[in-house]
Amino acid sequence: MDKPRVFVTRKLALDPRSLLGAGVELDQHDEEPVIARAELLKRVRGVEALLPTLADRVDDELLDAAPKLKIVANHAVGYDNIDVPACTRRGVWVTNTPGVLTDCTADLAWTLILSLVRRVREGERMMREGKFAGWAPTMLLGRELRGATLGLIGHGRIANAVEERAKAFGMKVIHSSRSSGLKLHELLQQSDIVSIHCPLNAQTRHLIGAKELLQMKRGAQLINTARGPIVDEAALVASLESGHLGGAGLDVFEEEPLVHQGLVGRDDVVLLPHLGSATVETRQAMARIALEQILLFLAGKRPVTAVNSF
Ligand code: GLV
Repeated sequence: MDKPRVFVTRKLALDPRSLLGAGVELDQHDEEPVIARAELLKRVRGVEALLPTLADRVDDELLDAAPKLKIVANHAVGYDNIDVPACTRRGVWVTNTPGVLTDCTADLAWTLILSLVRRVREGERMMREGKFAGWAPTMLLGRELRGATLGLIGHGRIANAVEERAKAFGMKVIHSSRSSGLKLHELLQQSDIVSIHCPLNAQTRHLIGAKELLQMKRGAQLINTARGPIVDEAALVASLESGHLGGAGLDVFEEEPLVHQGLVGRDDVVLLPHLGSATVETRQAMARIALEQILLFLAGKRPVTAVNSF
């Protein structure tokens, strides 16, 4: 009998062969950059299991090109790159990698918060440009966190981990999610810092637009480590330019990997290249979980991190 075919769309933090073993026929796009769409559509033909990353769109077009596909094991906790109803209609499992990136994503949200409120990038640049002329009482003054209010949008694992860290900084934490907490406008009105931790879907696309930015306190700061399109980037730039919003810390972008040019030159913005889950431990764990779902499926078992069911 032919071995089941598995396609992995990216070089991973561990060698998929070490987990999949010799029982499968593995194909992997292990060169940079991301695989071109046309090449992806060619390589999935005849494949039973696909391991994509968040840059690979799995939709009807791809499913048509992969008639034997039975499982899509996404290498991410978010799965907005996948048309889950289309997969479900065709009896294709979709799985994600929950849990293992909670702490490192919360750590990165805090990296952005601290960098913003203590003006780390301006200070760093001053040092490297040789412009530090000595300590001064009024130089690069930031803001205190103790007593300030952190508003969390979403109330899942990552939001909870961000909240846990906020307690150590003496912050008051409030939250707003689909099912609990404050109404969004109440949270925006009360927070000194707003951090986004909800999934991207039809309800959350542009959840933060011009109106919502105006509801934030003047001088408040916005952190996004979730998904870029949750924020209307053009409205964000306009709010920063108007002086209403006090700053933004962004790890994700609306047209990733492109960055709105209005953000690039600003000192009140910290930009990172989608590093939320970028630790060795987490990336290995994500790869392992995704590969294990494929192995479970091939062994005739239900993948444990499935986000759909039949
Ligand atoms: C990363 O962005 C993920 O969803 O895992």
